[in-house]
Amino acid sequence: MKILVTGGAGFIGSAVVRHAIRAGHAVVNLDKLTYAGSLSNVAEVSDSPAYAFEQADICDRARVDAILARHRPDAIMHLAAESHVDRSIDGPAAFIETNITGTYTMLEAARAYWTEAGRPEGFRFHHISTDEVFGSLGPQGQFTEETPYDPRSPYSASKAASDHLVGAWHETYGLPVVLTNCSNNYGPYHFPEKLIPVVILKALAGAPIPVYGAGDNVRDWLYVEDHADALLLVVAKGKVGRSYNIGGENEATNLHIVERICAILDEKRPGNRPYREQISFVTDRPGHDKRYAIDPSRIREELGWRPSVTLEEGLEKTVEWFLDHEDWWRALQGREGVGQRLGTKA
Ligand SMILES: NC(=O)c1ccc[n+]([C@@H]2O[C@H](COP(=O)([O-])OP(=O)(O)OC[C@H]3O[C@@H](n4cnc5c(N)ncnc54)[C@H](O)[C@@H]3O)[C@@H](O)[C@H]2O)c1
Repeated sequence: MKILVTGGAGFIGSAVVRHAIRAGHAVVNLDKLTYAGSLSNVAEVSDSPAYAFEQADICDRARVDAILARHRPDAIMHLAAESHVDRSIDGPAAFIETNITGTYTMLEAARAYWTEAGRPEGFRFHHISTDEVFGSLGPQGQFTEETPYDPRSPYSASKAASDHLVGAWHETYGLPVVLTNCSNNYGPYHFPEKLIPVVILKALAGAPIPVYGAGDNVRDWLYVEDHADALLLVVAKGKVGRSYNIGGENEATNLHIVERICAILDEKRPGNRPYREQISFVTDRPGHDKRYAIDPSRIREELGWRPSVTLEEGLEKTVEWFLDHEDWWRALQGREGVGQRLGTKA
């Protein structure tokens, strides 16, 4: 299969690109290379004859049309987005533009391309989304595919809007779409402004390790390679018009994650004192969702997917990866806003 991946230079998109090439697919990586994108994330496959890169903005319809006409993909996996909740609080405009207008532009370009090709049955538009569209859970329960949408941050609201556009393009125009909503990812190439890399890098720098509020917010963590695996399965075998929730069934409080990372670092890179002594509780994020948890039974029962990496193993692999790839993260630390507290302008 030839797959056009948008956002393939980002954290999850690059895992999809690497997996797809290894699995024998051809890949066209369409990415604008914003502050969050890096071609070093796909360096291990970029020499492959099955790989092509196009630097473009998903809001630029003429460029997207030309790329589709040139490469003629069998499927589009749409991951390009503004993805950091804290940035969406300080500057929502880019989230509206990329996540809503950009998805609309991709859908219209895909519809024109698919129509011109004679509406092939096998074509897929796979929209990659988040569990944050479902809002915040209390202590009990899990998000299913039937949970009503209740987004609460500019980021999740923009993703919810894009999900609705994808559903509408299927119902109204018959575009063969599949949709996935996934929980928090972590792993290699995680951009250094997100929680897990921040903890590792602040710890190594001897700096205060920030924990929002009391650190009792719960997330359902999934190792990024397992997510990429699930996405390639859904684009190939998912039922048209259907959505699939993807999660690791690995619930943990933020404080637990931070303490585990500190303990792993104590073992692998011991300092003069335990890293947990650097933990510093800071003012909470405005509107911070309390708990997310995914019920992944649909993807497990219909497509046979299950995660292969436990949270414990995944955290250890991730810490090791960051210890071994200092050049990668040092090069990104100079990028705009990285290493600073963002999301306080509410
Ligand atoms: N990170 C998570 O835990 C998580 C969980 C569930 C779903 N998702 C979704 O998965 C997708 C990828 O997330 P991520 O964490 O890899 O994001 P990321 O921020 O690491 O990467 C986004 C990529 O999109 C590119 N991009 C941004 N705007 C663009 C534009 N206008 N045109 C073309 N390219 C553009 C960036 O250059 C970057 O390479 C997003 O749609 C996100 O909503 C993320």
